[in-house]
Amino acid sequence: MLKNFIQNLPKAELHLHIEGTFEPELMFEIAKRNNIQIPFASVEEIKAAYEFDCLQDFLDIYYQGANVLIHEQDFYDLTYSYLQKCAAQNVRHTEIMFDPQTHTDRGVSFETVISGISKATKDAEKNLQVSSLLIMSYLRHLSEEEAFKTLEASLPFKHLITAVGLDSSEKGNPPSKFKNVFKASVKEGYIPLAHAGEEGNADYVWEALDILGIQRIDHGNNSLQDPKLIQEIIKRDIALTVCPLSNTALQVVDDLKNHPLKKMLDMGLKVTINSDDPAYFGGQINTNFEAITSALDLSKDMLYQLAKNSFQYSLLPSKRKEIYIKELDTYNKNN
Ligand code: HPA
Ligand code: ZN
Repeated sequence: MLKNFIQNLPKAELHLHIEGTFEPELMFEIAKRNNIQIPFASVEEIKAAYEFDCLQDFLDIYYQGANVLIHEQDFYDLTYSYLQKCAAQNVRHTEIMFDPQTHTDRGVSFETVISGISKATKDAEKNLQVSSLLIMSYLRHLSEEEAFKTLEASLPFKHLITAVGLDSSEKGNPPSKFKNVFKASVKEGYIPLAHAGEEGNADYVWEALDILGIQRIDHGNNSLQDPKLIQEIIKRDIALTVCPLSNTALQVVDDLKNHPLKKMLDMGLKVTINSDDPAYFGGQINTNFEAITSALDLSKDMLYQLAKNSFQYSLLPSKRKEIYIKELDTYNKNN
């Protein structure tokens, strides 16, 4: 019963790395047409390699997969394929992170990346009725100077980008390392967001809030270590984009039954459900909804609240939020 409710529930996805949607089948296809060797003989072999002990373990293989993306068409196909999955799961809106440095460091131009991705989002808006906004993420294992170069490269395409994010290896790369580039990004009109408290502790979340001024927290699990921080997040009305299957895949949480999502909801934190890197972590957004619902015995009201949060805490203008929430309310009343 709730499986059907989840399937058709209108929702938004707010934490999604486009490079993390790269399914092995498409990876093989693009590698072949670009004449690039990948170190796996089959789709099964790729899937078997997806066993991770921690975030870094995953990142190593994730950057390797992205190596086959060369042409604008590759970025288009990657993005459009994800957006088709959105349409099939009644994801009405998505906020897509992309990592320019993963590509520009290999000699692929910023323009190639952004053009392929943004053309796919425009076509999906028209053909699939899924809206998208783009979040340009800085890789935190690289220097702030490198992030500044990415900011500079993005400026001719500013009209296509809504926000900046911060991702990659968290431990040892605190938000404060990117203080100046975030300040400059905000000056250019980008909304500041960041991953914080996935493997890093609550101090990193404080820094992301107070030094970077972020308006949404990606993951944020370790905020629960600090009651003062929890109160501050609630006071600022900031959402946490939680990714259940990512958390178990990267061993941030040992078992979904011990996932803090319900605790977060009970405390009054605004949380949303997301897939993070669905091709690597065992499921798309609806699989995340189903898995956490069954592990924590979530009620229909909770699912409604999670979907509502996903629109409410999106980066859309309030008029658009209202339209989506109205659609959700109608669905909730009739199901
Ligand atoms: N954390 C940090 N960096 C990432 C992630 C993540 O979950 N996914 C892709 N890049
Ligand atoms: Zn992420």
